[in-house]
Amino acid sequence: MAIKKADKIWANGKYINWDDAKIHVLSHVVHYGTCIFEGERCYKTKDGPAIFRLQDHTKRFFNSAKIYRMEIPFSQEEISQAIIETIRTNRLQAAYIRPFVFRGYDSLGVNPFNCPVEVYIAVWEWGTYLGEDALSQGVDVKVSSWNRIAPNTLPVLSKAGANYMNSQLIKIEAMLDGYAEGIALDVNGFVSEGSGENLFLIRNQKIYTPPLSASVLEGITRDTIMTLAKDMGYSVIEDNIPRELLYLADELFFSGSAAEITPIRSVDKIKIGAGKRGPITEELQKEFFGIVSGKKKDKYEWLTYI
Ligand SMILES: Cc1ncc(COP(=O)(O)O)c(C=O)c1O
Repeated sequence: MAIKKADKIWANGKYINWDDAKIHVLSHVVHYGTCIFEGERCYKTKDGPAIFRLQDHTKRFFNSAKIYRMEIPFSQEEISQAIIETIRTNRLQAAYIRPFVFRGYDSLGVNPFNCPVEVYIAVWEWGTYLGEDALSQGVDVKVSSWNRIAPNTLPVLSKAGANYMNSQLIKIEAMLDGYAEGIALDVNGFVSEGSGENLFLIRNQKIYTPPLSASVLEGITRDTIMTLAKDMGYSVIEDNIPRELLYLADELFFSGSAAEITPIRSVDKIKIGAGKRGPITEELQKEFFGIVSGKKKDKYEWLTYI
């Protein structure tokens, strides 16, 4: 789905027109993927637009940059405030939010330090990530022939642009093979995550998700689901998941700011549970969408109203 243009982009503290947000082709980021980004959502509620877990996303943004020794020349409060104002400026009710920081134009050796750190915030209207029916019907996925990034190669806890070359291999293979998404295993053969989503598995009323040591991004939706599920009385277990347990699951779903809570109805053409969205997945969706739409009480104070 092509990006739906908004009016303005926040560029290093100023607003520029959407079409003027251009960089030089010899910028460091273009060649080496020297970029950190976030993906978050602003939801439409009866009390106006509200950003989901804004401070947590901003914190992860800064943590990701810290690993790459990229100093963001703004405070976390300034970035969070700029996100709020960018949504206001573009007069959007619901939006996908993409803050990013990259190394720009100066020298083109691998050494990034001379290249300026540039920070941008873009927002635009965006629908469901894995297709219109995905949230209710579920998606068909395959286990990827590509592994997720190995420990101590590229740091997966940093949401860095370069990591998404690995994600693209997973996604491309899945799509060319006729699936909506791929599930990558880690280098030890345990289940890791999707190309842009964390994964949850439900078996005998217990909820499992791979630990951070299985090369997964520390997803904010992952944390949200773990919190909601525990409060709903479920055991939530972070543990290594062998591939074959995917096929034996009662329910499986992806989580992410883009994918939200997307049920998985088959893996490698093996039906998961009843081959449709399962009851616990639906219960979690109801709670999650109830909160983000402002219909259920936001007792965790996850929403920032604009
Ligand atoms: C590789 C990867 N895993 C997991 C996630 C889910 O993270 P979050 O829930 O913070 O969006 C994302 C999306 O940002 C991702 O790109």
